[in-house]
Amino acid sequence: MKKINEITTGKAKSLYTTDVSDQLIMHFRDDTSAFDGKKKEALLGKGAVNNQFNAFIMEHLEAKGVNTHHIEVLNSTDSLVYKLEMFPIECVVRNRATGSICRRLGTKDGLILDTPLFEFFLKDDELGDPLITDEHILSFGWAGEEDIKEMKEITLNINTILCELFLSSNLILVDFKVEFGLFDGKLLLADEFTPDGCRLWDTETLAKMDKDRFRQGLGDVVESYHQVADRLGMNIKLD
Ligand code: ADP
Ligand code: TMP
Ligand code: ASP
Repeated sequence: MKKINEITTGKAKSLYTTDVSDQLIMHFRDDTSAFDGKKKEALLGKGAVNNQFNAFIMEHLEAKGVNTHHIEVLNSTDSLVYKLEMFPIECVVRNRATGSICRRLGTKDGLILDTPLFEFFLKDDELGDPLITDEHILSFGWAGEEDIKEMKEITLNINTILCELFLSSNLILVDFKVEFGLFDGKLLLADEFTPDGCRLWDTETLAKMDKDRFRQGLGDVVESYHQVADRLGMNIKLD
């Protein structure tokens, strides 16, 4: 499968058309961004670890019955995916309070929440990805009622599946963001699940092993992603 035209260049990935009209090549770049693109850096090898990390998680979720856009890994930095009509929405689940919710609600950092908290955000960097409700989504026509219900159910199910997976490697899944899209009217998990879009803390030391290392200038970003991958038994190829 060959890349034909670049159709999307986001902050960390690029999408290319292929000779199959409904399939795209998703290329994971080394580019890393935070704070809605205000902090940027290329971190050598991040694209490769994220591509293979994402494939491992997508395949694990598929095996547990979650429908995803992932088809197959093509090489160290590229995967083949179905071309979706994306919802302009980010779905976040939090098991502990940290990051934006602490700034918003004045919550103590690290507080364990009584139940996993689901939140929708509008995918709009210029507006700083604002928190939105189901009512905003319906009024602005960003998704339908059934889509909203499905996105919540699937995201909370992903949380249950991945909390168990990470915990078995002594990692706490603190929170994460996922995106969805439609393929022939069917709702599929899209985009990526990597340490760029979630928070993972060591169960013993609570050390951060995710993109907060980049956001907070803690260093060893790619090294930490590799440590997580190793703990989960992934065999990351660097080439
Ligand atoms: P961002 O848009 O946040 O800067 P990326 O650099 O990760 O993010 O770019 C990837 C883009 O591709 C995102 O806009 C995402 O919504 C979109 N995308 C992810 N998966 C698919 C898919 N299967 N079909 C179409 N678009 C997708
Ligand atoms: P937040 O605390 O900044 O709202 O982030 C919650 C989780 O969602 C965290 O794991 C990071 C992830 N996230 C992204 O991956 N991209 C985003 O644009 C946002 C807002 C959050
Ligand atoms: N994903 C957003 C960005 O790249 C927000 C973040 O991760 O802090 O800027």
